[in-house]
Amino acid sequence: MADTKKLMLRALAGETLPVPPIWMMRQAGRYLPEYRATRAQAGDFLSLCYNPELAAEVTLQPIRRYGFDAAILFADILLLPQALGADLWFVTGEGPRLSTITTPDELAKLKPVEAIHDTLNPIYETVRILSRELPKETTLIGFAGAPWTVATYMIAGRGTPDQGPAHQLIAEDRATFEGLLDRLTEGTIDYLSKQIEAGAEVVKLFDSWAGSLKGADFDRYALEPAKRIIAALKSRHPDTPVIAFPREAGERYVGFAKATGADCVALDNSVSPEWAAEHVQVDGCVQGNLASSHMVTGGQALVDETRHIVQAFSKGPHIFNLGHGITPDADPANVQLMIDTVRGG
Ligand code: CP3
Repeated sequence: MADTKKLMLRALAGETLPVPPIWMMRQAGRYLPEYRATRAQAGDFLSLCYNPELAAEVTLQPIRRYGFDAAILFADILLLPQALGADLWFVTGEGPRLSTITTPDELAKLKPVEAIHDTLNPIYETVRILSRELPKETTLIGFAGAPWTVATYMIAGRGTPDQGPAHQLIAEDRATFEGLLDRLTEGTIDYLSKQIEAGAEVVKLFDSWAGSLKGADFDRYALEPAKRIIAALKSRHPDTPVIAFPREAGERYVGFAKATGADCVALDNSVSPEWAAEHVQVDGCVQGNLASSHMVTGGQALVDETRHIVQAFSKGPHIFNLGHGITPDADPANVQLMIDTVRGG
């Protein structure tokens, strides 16, 4: 009974729908006054992530306000490094800071994968609350960072514009780099499995910095770990769809779903929807890819570009989304305009 299934799950199963399901990266975030209020109540960002009641509340806020087709668990990709024993804190206005892993000794001090759940249990509790409280038509998405992207933060101890420290470690001590990547790959499999067991219906792998890997390094450090994670998840949870997001992969988006086993590839807005329909959507569902700047600027340009993307992907399975997360300076009214345009034509 395909049409009793949630819209998101139908698109992920490869169905071409008259109106694509829609959700938004970072849909629970600082552009929403209700998010800012709950975050203030929690004290800080990490306290919010580890408070199941409040994390579920901020996950639900954009669903109540806009009726998105999917809710994404409120957490962060850097909780896994913390669960592996890295120190993690957020500097207001600047972003994350972590203790660094660049030597064999530091790698050896990380906790074994079995230990991650001690830290991550509250996240699974958030998933359980959400699977009880979400409207029946809303799909719950769990997520993790892809090993390469998470490793770039662990190696540099912060976000970097070019992932220089991680590339430097590859050049100078490939064994330590690969040891870290392996640990993250194993940890990600267990972390996502537990999210699925707690009620996540779809999982997404965020490889935000995949675009800085070129040639054989892209295969080894973006494609291979995704393939390993997806194969392990499929063997444990064959019916749970996986969305892969190798951001800024450019031409390497082509064939990524087939090579990794992903059910859907999420596209950033540096690729044109016509090109992606022809070269990526031929293999199955795609997600994307409106520039998040439209959520700041709005107006006719937002409407035109939204229609353009819907039209370009209309001949195959498509989930409407932004090309990257919505930014804190976005206007909540523009989000409504995007949704009305997708659903109303
Ligand atoms: O999409 C969602 O709404 C779900 C929750 C979610 C967050 N982070 C919440 C968050 C998800 C899926 C992420 C993923 C994430 N986190 C990524 C990959 C996606 C991407 O954006 O490229 C990365 C690289 C991170 C690491 C991270 N977390 C950074 C670099 C920052 C600081 C930058 C910023 O936007 O402030 C965060 C903090 C963060 N994660 C916030 C939120 C809502 C803002 C924290 C706050 O409330 O102050």
